[in-house]
Amino acid sequence: MSSVGDRQFEAYQAFLLGCKLHWTGRIFPALHAQYRDKAERAANAGTPVTDATDVAKLMEGETLYRNFAWLERHLQRFKYSGRWGLQPVHDAARDELVAELDAPIPEGLLELDPDFEIPTYFRSVDIHQHPGGIWSDAIAGYVYERGARSTTPLLDRDKDLHYRFTRLVNERKQGRRILDMGCGFGKSTRPFWEENRDADVVGVDIAGPCLRLAAHDAAAAQARNVRFLQRDCRRTGLPDASRDVVTSTMVIHEMPPPAIRDTFAEAMRVLEPGGLMIHLDFIPADDPFMHFMHYGHGRRNNEPYMEPMVKMDVKQTMRDLGFRNVETFDFEEMPGALASRFERWRFPWTVIVGEK
Ligand SMILES: C[S@@+](CC[C@H](N)C(=O)[O-])C[C@H]1O[C@@H](n2cnc3c(N)ncnc32)[C@H](O)[C@@H]1O
Repeated sequence: MSSVGDRQFEAYQAFLLGCKLHWTGRIFPALHAQYRDKAERAANAGTPVTDATDVAKLMEGETLYRNFAWLERHLQRFKYSGRWGLQPVHDAARDELVAELDAPIPEGLLELDPDFEIPTYFRSVDIHQHPGGIWSDAIAGYVYERGARSTTPLLDRDKDLHYRFTRLVNERKQGRRILDMGCGFGKSTRPFWEENRDADVVGVDIAGPCLRLAAHDAAAAQARNVRFLQRDCRRTGLPDASRDVVTSTMVIHEMPPPAIRDTFAEAMRVLEPGGLMIHLDFIPADDPFMHFMHYGHGRRNNEPYMEPMVKMDVKQTMRDLGFRNVETFDFEEMPGALASRFERWRFPWTVIVGEK
């Protein structure tokens, strides 16, 4: 990939990441301790906390919470904007990046739809605070890829959550025809085509700029077993019963509940009998504080469907569509993340699984 930015850009982004780690590892535990104290007092006073609304009443006026929320919103904004933000720095390298995307790749690796209509639910918000979203600018895939490095900063493959998730999927079912729904720039698809060399892997997404990057990445690695298609995961156009594994990573929470239901229905259609649907997404633990923090994250990071997704009954939706052996369970995205002493802020990673 072209070199984007200079040392000052790298230093600025590293500084923001340092601030984020401080927010994660120092401010969040202090906030949680403050909440526990206040919740205990409330319980002793006969007004126990029962849900996220009660937590809001206790915490929203607190300076520490306000600092936490401000940093959550604005560190992400600073990542994209300003002199060394991802957007202007990539913009300065636009010609080079576009030329890279225009370079030829093997036939069949990428199928874009020039008439594709981005769904309204997705175009109506700049998701993750990414200016213009991840679909409207030709170089948005690069911006998203660089931004995602500090969302999951552990680059070591064994610690990378995408590889960890792929291993879990493979243990459940070694797919031979795998569909990755909402594949983005291919980060979630890559472990599947890398670790399942005999499998036929398809990644679908609505965001053309991301798909182009995914395809170039696969071409550079001389992958022969993957294709990227610009399709809505509610209507993939793939034949009935043509896949044995349908998966997604961090996609479900980006959709309003009716779209989630339609996506599950599409998975049911394209799966062969006995096939596995398995998604990795975010469902907080049954704890009012965790719900309050998660809903706040959704608001502050421009992810409006995070809260409705948690509030819908995902498992019942799957059962109603005919899925069997439906379950959800916590996912350990990095070693030790599920230990009781783990006190840093983390996404509530959850595996959602059912069989046809
Ligand atoms: C947070 S990103 C995750 C990307 C990738 N799975 C990963 O783990 O890096 C969510 C992706 O879902 C895609 N998406 C949202 N709605 C979709 C839909 N209806 N059909 C296909 N993709 C969709 C977005 O374009 C985006 O690339």
